[in-house]
Amino acid sequence: MAKVMREALAKNRSVAPMSTPIRRVIEIDPNQPDERLLQEAGALLRGGKIVAFPTETVYGLGADALNSAAVSAVYRAKGRPATNPVIVHVDTLEMARELTASWPQTADRLATACWPGPLTLVLPRASKVPDVVTAGGPTVAVRMPANLVALGLIRAAGVPVAAPSANRSGGLSPTLARHVLASLLGPIDLLIDAGPTQLGLESTVIDLTTAPPRILRPGQITSSDIERHIGPVQYASLGGHEPLRSPGLLPRHYAPRSPAECLPLSDMVRRADELVGAGLRVGCLYCGAVPPGMANCFTSVVLPAVAAGYAEGLYAALHHLDELQVDRILIVSPPQGEEWHAVQDRLRRAVAL
Ligand code: TXA
Ligand code: MG
Repeated sequence: MAKVMREALAKNRSVAPMSTPIRRVIEIDPNQPDERLLQEAGALLRGGKIVAFPTETVYGLGADALNSAAVSAVYRAKGRPATNPVIVHVDTLEMARELTASWPQTADRLATACWPGPLTLVLPRASKVPDVVTAGGPTVAVRMPANLVALGLIRAAGVPVAAPSANRSGGLSPTLARHVLASLLGPIDLLIDAGPTQLGLESTVIDLTTAPPRILRPGQITSSDIERHIGPVQYASLGGHEPLRSPGLLPRHYAPRSPAECLPLSDMVRRADELVGAGLRVGCLYCGAVPPGMANCFTSVVLPAVAAGYAEGLYAALHHLDELQVDRILIVSPPQGEEWHAVQDRLRRAVAL
């Protein structure tokens, strides 16, 4: 990750001003999570409380997936519409299978190849999964996260853990504990701070109930990765007359508070000059390097020109620019190519009106 971002993240490491009412924050070592702390957090989940915790992608806000009242509290804390279903996190294959009414060979192949990891499988739901988890729909989304704290927490809880990203609905996902505190609406019982998440963008979501299977949300695991295991897949598209299969497909989502524009490098100097000249505080997000001749922007962040590094730092960079309350965020369009697909998708939604 670029030095400038590492410094910003280091400064932001400790849990600072709280806007979310929160009962307790604990720090856990991401590499050697303290078993006693995991047991305490697991007991809270089992008792119907809500707990924010890290995964390898972003922080999630968890509740016992089989407890409707607890999952409803998660929806309230996020201001999430009841029509948007949540992902259920598991620590074993058996736990995943018990949440589903059928487990096709495609699920077996993908789970074997990609779990634990940033891939969410949408499958026919078992009747024991409450309506609030699936938004009343016939499917359930399941994933096994590749994060020792998340896996230890689910094991300690002994229940599947429903967890959307731990941010206000529609906003940026949290990649640091302090992002969770800054963005939720309602009270939460515990926040587990285990430092920055490793991948930085949410999991790939694939619907295995359609033929061919459809990618509902791109992520680090690409369509080629998936096709190697189960053959051809499609991308779900927006528009047309179909009902929306996944609210994560909404055009504006994953968005910073400040209005943002994404533009080619060749237009950056002109656009920044224009906005700075009009008296706006402009925050710039670059890919690889700052182009020569840039206007005197209020602040700038440089992310690596490598897809994984860019993805890791993107939300932290946008949170940082939001915290500085810039009037406008200018983002240099990153490169095309399959490995950039998830980044391109989130940027499109971040700038949508
Ligand atoms: O990486 C991630 O997936 C993170 C971490 C915490 O696991 N979670 C996450 O959750 O991003 P959330 O709720 O912010 O996004 C879940 C996405 C949404 O777009 C939701 O609509 C979709 O998955 N989804 C959940 N259940 C679904 C279902 N049964 N059918 C179709 N889409 C579903
Ligand atoms: Mg989310």
